Amino acid sequence: MLIRYPGHEILLPDIVRAVNCHLFDAGGRRYVDLESGVWCATVGHGHPRVLRALTEQAARIAHNGYCYGTAVVEEAARELLDRLGFAGGDCVLLCSGSEAVEHGVRTAQAAAGRPLLLTMADSYFGAYGSASRRRADEWFSFDWTPCASCPFAGECDRGCPHWEAVPFEQIGGFVFEPGSSSGLVRFPPDKLIRNLVATIRRDGGLVLVNEVTTGFGRTGRWFGHQHYGFAPDVVATGKSLGNGYPVSAALYAPGVRERLGGSPLKYAQSHQNDPLGAAVAREVVRVIADEDLIARGAAAGARLLAGLEEIRARVGRIAQIRARGPMIAVELDDAPDAAFTARLHRDLVGRGYVTGRRPGLPVLRLDPALTIGDEDVDGFLAAFAAALSDG
Ligand SMILES: Cc1ncc(COP(=O)(O)O)c(C=O)c1O
Repeated sequence: MLIRYPGHEILLPDIVRAVNCHLFDAGGRRYVDLESGVWCATVGHGHPRVLRALTEQAARIAHNGYCYGTAVVEEAARELLDRLGFAGGDCVLLCSGSEAVEHGVRTAQAAAGRPLLLTMADSYFGAYGSASRRRADEWFSFDWTPCASCPFAGECDRGCPHWEAVPFEQIGGFVFEPGSSSGLVRFPPDKLIRNLVATIRRDGGLVLVNEVTTGFGRTGRWFGHQHYGFAPDVVATGKSLGNGYPVSAALYAPGVRERLGGSPLKYAQSHQNDPLGAAVAREVVRVIADEDLIARGAAAGARLLAGLEEIRARVGRIAQIRARGPMIAVELDDAPDAAFTARLHRDLVGRGYVTGRRPGLPVLRLDPALTIGDEDVDGFLAAFAAALSDG
């Protein structure tokens, strides 16, 4: 093996093909993919409609320069803006989730005229850009861990020393990851988030949500922020938008452009608004709608969760299960055997099931495609119960 990824164990070195939720190795062995690649292949690997859109667009035009328009880019933008209730707003198609967040961050900073942004201390925003570095002059990180044992009955803004420590008057925006929280599937309290949104807005700041992981049905709704009942100003998307193809989008509500003085952020990157990425994104959004995949994914998530809870009661060795739709973290009780999670993870691969694992933590992640069938869910649950018992 020539390529080594620091921190990532190569469990299956010879994958040659993937169809929906199934991976096939060179020997023809089939594995059920319960993490959709890196939470990307949300409508299933090689979805026929997405494949067709990709190949037909590649044959027409894959890429053009900044000064040329292509209908497919307009159509993809419209699909996305309409889904968010942002009709008349702005959309730029980019290449990764990190980039979409960075685009939104720069826009929020420029619109508010204040570089300091508020976020939750345990949020993840990507591999590069200001949000990944979190310099103290640009970011104020709110640690919501104490909220779990709040003595103020969740009022948040009155008498809470954590709230009072936030320098709201200096803050230009709130950058919120609605629920994955460093991959551990944790959800900051609704009341806290709604109060933060209202306070940031009162002071003229923008609210940016990072839907790179939580978007497009991953939490049982189109977007993760919809569980919190507020409308954002900026939305960063990625991952599922390309179903494995590297396309992302930064989306702006009507009115944000005016806050920038009438023209969008100046930004030049060779592959922004590429027709090829646009064709994929447009088709993925249409497939999710046409195939009722939000509801199907939510049902698959509910089936998984019910099965896991039953295993927890019957077999044990599970400390906690956290879930929202088909986004699930299983926290194992690995005491006194710290190698238990890694062994269980490998054992499941041996039984034909690929789950996600957070190295160094006793956590397995399940983020299957929204299209996963009951037989694969039930097969996984049986394999998981057996592996836990043998563990
Ligand atoms: C919540 C969240 N935001 C941003 C990113 C960055 O996306 P990308 O890896 O496509 O740059 C990720 C990637 O895992 C993520 O989970």
